[in-house]
Amino acid sequence: MMCPMLMFSVAASKTPEMTVLTASETHPVDPASFRRALSCFPTGVAIVTTLGPGERPIGLTISSFNSVSMEPPLILWSLARKALSLSAFRAHPAFAVNVLAADQEELCRVFASPVEDRFAKVDWTPGIEGVPVLAGTAASFECRKWRTYDGGDHEIFIGEVIRHSDSERTPLVFGKGRMEPFPVGIG
Ligand SMILES: Cc1cc2nc3c(=O)[nH]c(=O)nc-3n(C[C@H](O)[C@H](O)[C@H](O)COP(=O)(O)O)c2cc1C
Repeated sequence: MMCPMLMFSVAASKTPEMTVLTASETHPVDPASFRRALSCFPTGVAIVTTLGPGERPIGLTISSFNSVSMEPPLILWSLARKALSLSAFRAHPAFAVNVLAADQEELCRVFASPVEDRFAKVDWTPGIEGVPVLAGTAASFECRKWRTYDGGDHEIFIGEVIRHSDSERTPLVFGKGRMEPFPVGIG
């Protein structure tokens, strides 16, 4: 039996009029095992915030945050197209990424749940363009929206970092479906 990788490269090398099979056609991805494999890559946890209609604070828990570029200073994160906050993040010119500290696990849950007022139990101050910067975090990045890209069932937001801060607080880590403090003794 030909291995899926070989099938892909043989098909891709044929003449243009031939049907070129995509990786997903030769090698269907099962969502549950895809998620399980992704969970082997631990990340931090953040709450990304902006302002909605009437300057209402908007925010949700994310783990898709990553660095992109040093010059200019760029970061990215992705937002599910089905998220209720999508229109607010599309409309506002700025957002803040608030990297959660180990003792903020409860906030992580609140900002991933359909609660009435996600900001009820957290102090925040207005950052650039008024976007909420949460108190007690490990770090924060205030960004001007730089570009957005199609990311399948997500939209990818790239932000130019205008202001950032960090603290001595231990970051919260998410991996293998669990939340843990950043391991003691590392870093
Ligand atoms: C640890 C964790 C990480 C998450 N990462 C993301 C993410 O990167 N992008 C995303 O769109 N949703 C992510 N979510 C799910 C959203 O937080 C959740 O769907 C939220 O309710 C969306 O809020 P909204 O519908 O008000 O926009 C994550 C949830 C958790 C608990």
